[in-house]
Amino acid sequence: MSEPVRVLFVCLGNICRSPSAEGVFRQVVENAGLSNQVKIDSCGTGSWHVGKAPDGRAREAAARRGIDISDLRARQFQESDLFEFDYVLVMDRQSLADIKRVQKEIGGTEPELFLDYGSPSHDEVPDPYYGGNQGFEMVLDLIQEASEGLLARLRERLA
Ligand code: 4NP
Repeated sequence: MSEPVRVLFVCLGNICRSPSAEGVFRQVVENAGLSNQVKIDSCGTGSWHVGKAPDGRAREAAARRGIDISDLRARQFQESDLFEFDYVLVMDRQSLADIKRVQKEIGGTEPELFLDYGSPSHDEVPDPYYGGNQGFEMVLDLIQEASEGLLARLRERLA
């Protein structure tokens, strides 16, 4: 079997959007029977929440869809990630700019907006941190759609 494809999701805090993406995409990949061929991780550009579990609202919203993200712990993006992942998928334009700046200096995988694989109606996953539960549902909807688009891309690559 070929080497696993390595996918990293990135947001700001790594407690709301990117751990949600990690959980949803893990489920999508599992349902496709491809868990052995795809390695998935997430991180944040900021360091405030390092070591913390996902936000309770993100955990509950994921749980309502049968996804358990409670064992994930936040970590900060590091330069070596650009050499350890084949896809670096960011949630918003700010994270894209932050990581692009690093990538231009040191090389490695070029970051992309995760929603480039999803709905044409949105390019960013809106930050739900300061909003209500509805924001977390929307995060999951956008992530689910992009996860399916990403899976289709990976199937081509793994075929
Ligand atoms: P995330 O959400 O980037 O989706 O994990 C946030 C979490 C925390 C903060 C901002 C966004 N914060 O400012 O602490």
